[in-house]
Amino acid sequence: MYFLTILKKLIMNTNRETATEKNIEKISQNITIAVLGLGYVGLPLAIAFSSKYKTIGYDINNLRIKQLSEGYDYTQEISTEQLHQASSITYTNDVNDIKYANVYIIAVPTPVDHSKRPDLQHLLISTSEVGKILKKNDIIIYESTVYPGCTEEDCIPVLEKESRLSYNQDFFCGYSPERINPGDPSRPITSIKKVTSGSTPEIAEYIDQLYQSIISAGTFKASSIRVAEASKAIENAQRDVNISFMNELALLFDKLDIDTHEVLEAASTKWNFLNFKPGLVGGHCIGVDPYYLLHKAESVGYHPQVLLSGRRINDQMGIYVANKVVKLMIRKGHKIEGSRALILGITYKENCSDIRNSKVIDVVQELEEFGLQVDVWDPVASTEKVRAEFGIEMISEPTQHYDAIVLAVAHQAFLLMNWDVISNTTTIIYDVKSVLDKNMVSGRL
Ligand SMILES: NC(=O)c1ccc[n+]([C@@H]2O[C@H](COP(=O)([O-])OP(=O)(O)OC[C@H]3O[C@@H](n4cnc5c(N)ncnc54)[C@H](O)[C@@H]3O)[C@@H](O)[C@H]2O)c1
Repeated sequence: MYFLTILKKLIMNTNRETATEKNIEKISQNITIAVLGLGYVGLPLAIAFSSKYKTIGYDINNLRIKQLSEGYDYTQEISTEQLHQASSITYTNDVNDIKYANVYIIAVPTPVDHSKRPDLQHLLISTSEVGKILKKNDIIIYESTVYPGCTEEDCIPVLEKESRLSYNQDFFCGYSPERINPGDPSRPITSIKKVTSGSTPEIAEYIDQLYQSIISAGTFKASSIRVAEASKAIENAQRDVNISFMNELALLFDKLDIDTHEVLEAASTKWNFLNFKPGLVGGHCIGVDPYYLLHKAESVGYHPQVLLSGRRINDQMGIYVANKVVKLMIRKGHKIEGSRALILGITYKENCSDIRNSKVIDVVQELEEFGLQVDVWDPVASTEKVRAEFGIEMISEPTQHYDAIVLAVAHQAFLLMNWDVISNTTTIIYDVKSVLDKNMVSGRL
């Protein structure tokens, strides 16, 4: 009830004035935030909120809860020291512990299934869990990446059914997409401008101020939940399409025997040339979100072409890299069957332990199909997770010369290592990320 009073006062105030410290102070009273899903997105968010509000972190993964309670974050995004500093957070895997919250933030995975269709199971299960404990005037904010319309068309009905409460009368919703950049300590969550939205103008303002109180970079209040959802989906789709154009150029320039990076270097001297690079597009965002947009487009009878063509090109780049490596080996007189190849990096991006949807596996499998013996080394990735996800037993450290080496991920460790230990004059070195000295590589994407 007290929460409702604050909310009403806030709504009256915000009609007269914009975000003021006074308003933010009012919001901060008596708020308990429950963050559902403590992964790459949820944990930093919970920590940021805990500096201002009572915060509970809820995750269904018992091991994750135990590790966080002990001060260990396997994503390596939050240090033990930071976890200890945020000691006011309660970590739990018992849903009863979050029923006293009044703001629920859902940050669970939204992957695609084997047919590349949105897999909403985690989102709907967590929604249903919240629905069962929902009280009058609670606010549910979704942070998981979805397609436009998902919150209102897929999640709200579940909340209403489970809670027997009415949307926008008894409870309210919002959507605030996440833009964190794992593996990049220079951009902490609070330094990234955040899009917010709410199910009524007053709730949108409330949610906006809630985020403003922790995001020093500020917020952008979108006009509706659907607009906020769409904005997230297109941010990643735009990157996907732009990178696919670079990949297409790399395929073309390979045939023309022109170095793509030299072309890009020259072209980027023009003021409006966009600075994208070719590469393996993996991960659970750029390689996945376009399929969410595609699903929604098809559901209204629109069949996107640019979006799909970008996906098609990006998805074949791993096979291209492996074929290129084999051709370079043959040109240098290597026998392919039984040759030894080393893949450096299996995560989907540099200095980040996340292996989800990594396209490096395509390179590994294609080289193995050619008959090569492939070792994978990634000091940033978890050996257990790589085994579970890809069935690959990583080596702990390379100690021999290889016939071919593919630098697939530009981890700092690879840039600093002594390459004489793993290569000699006959080794084919292929640089997917174009970060090595051009004179030491046989080819680059
Ligand atoms: N990682 C990123 O860089 C990033 C950036 C922007 C947006 N996103 C989006 O944010 C969402 C979360 O991504 P992530 O990378 O944090 O995922 P993650 O896999 O790192 O973390 C998700 C967590 O949710 C937990 N979980 C699953 N079902 C649950 C449930 N029913 N109740 C409570 N916890 C549950 C899992 O155990 C896991 O710990 C996704 O929609 C993703 O697309 C991710």
